[in-house]
Amino acid sequence: MQPLSSAEVKRITTKNTYGTWRRQKGWNPVHVVDAEDCHFTDSDGKKYLDFSAQLMCVTLGHKNKAVITAIQNQARDLAYVGPAWATTVRAELAKRLIEVLPKGLDKFFFTTSGTEANEAAFKIARMMTGKTKIISRYRSYHGSTMGSIAATGDPRRWAMEPAGKIPGVIFAPEVNCYKCPILHTYPGCGIACVEYVEHMIANESDVAAVILEPVVGTNGVLIPPKEYLPRLRQICDKHGVLMIADEVMTGWCRTGKWFAVDNWGVVPDILTTAKGITNAAIPLGLCATTEKVASYFEDHFFSHGHTYEAHPLTLAPAIASIDEMKRLNLAARAVELGAYIGPKLNALKEKHPSIGEVRGIGMFWGVELVKNRKTKEPFNTMKDKVSGTPLLVDKVTGRMMTNGVYMQAWVSHFVIAPPLIIRESEIDEGVAAFDEALSIADAEVEA
Ligand SMILES: Cc1ncc(COP(=O)(O)O)c(C=O)c1O
Repeated sequence: MQPLSSAEVKRITTKNTYGTWRRQKGWNPVHVVDAEDCHFTDSDGKKYLDFSAQLMCVTLGHKNKAVITAIQNQARDLAYVGPAWATTVRAELAKRLIEVLPKGLDKFFFTTSGTEANEAAFKIARMMTGKTKIISRYRSYHGSTMGSIAATGDPRRWAMEPAGKIPGVIFAPEVNCYKCPILHTYPGCGIACVEYVEHMIANESDVAAVILEPVVGTNGVLIPPKEYLPRLRQICDKHGVLMIADEVMTGWCRTGKWFAVDNWGVVPDILTTAKGITNAAIPLGLCATTEKVASYFEDHFFSHGHTYEAHPLTLAPAIASIDEMKRLNLAARAVELGAYIGPKLNALKEKHPSIGEVRGIGMFWGVELVKNRKTKEPFNTMKDKVSGTPLLVDKVTGRMMTNGVYMQAWVSHFVIAPPLIIRESEIDEGVAAFDEALSIADAEVEA
């Protein structure tokens, strides 16, 4: 069979397949043919530094050998049996998960995406509590299906309003100490944003769960003040509401701990994750629950499942990924890398008037652009994103691509989350490309 030319690959991809979260017109994807460690290569042989680990998921770097071998061996030994059977790979993974997850989360439902992990969490929370409502926050993303998009605060939900989503989800203000949605200033605020969640619970009744990204990911790398999560834990306990930590993006050493909640010593009732669990080499999601949640289903029908639940081929690379993360001491490495990149990004803020704020935890960094540092007005809005208005952040990342560096942008900020195997010299390369491209934004700053 004659291989397709690159032009054919692009033509068929854009004509016959969907490009996600975008208007289809004008989609002109790079044809990627290879990827290794912190780089990927296009069909012209040009190499790009992957400064966001694709979608903040290739944590061990591309083509991790142990992960590939695990997939190959599992495909040979037992590629598939249904979820009703016991398998060695399922037990081996469960053993390892108990070791690395926050203590007390020891019963697992395996899915094939973060979206499905959150769907499972909502159903479990509703069945277990007998209550309906889910509290989420505006600056959030929890997945693309009818339930998980309903719980998504960002504009990817808008097209589904009001009919295409599950009822019963309500939104709390997010924690954002740079641009507080309720116009407070930390620490004098008394963490009003979390106290307001209690007000919501008390006034709504029928609240089954609160779902949150412990550190908000795509929507800006928003790090809560130290009081936030412990206080939310207290509020949930007081009202018999389950706390669901969505660690799809923040899990797997990204924030300098195995899971972001570990930074504040908080154990949620349910933790969902995906992405880095297999180094993104095979689709796998996880919904982990405590014994208290799990025990409800001893005598009640667990009304949930998938053909691909606990699919052996998806579980084997998770075992390999966890072993690799331990071998490489990746959580500690994320802290070291964060200490290296943080001052460099803050130095960019000194130099570039278009940067409003730099924030990060471990090797998870957000850089927010503003037209005006005083008013903190962004260059673009969520409405611009949805309407297809060209975004300034995309111009910046476009220039970086020309210079061989790929970095994720969303509305008016960037998310920097390279593979945790990145070298300091590669960080320098990425930061230099960012530095150069930021002149595009600086030129648009209000005088
Ligand atoms: C915080 C969070 N939750 C859920 C999801 C959905 O995961 P998936 O894309 O694997 O369905 C994502 C994806 O980016 C995410 O970042």
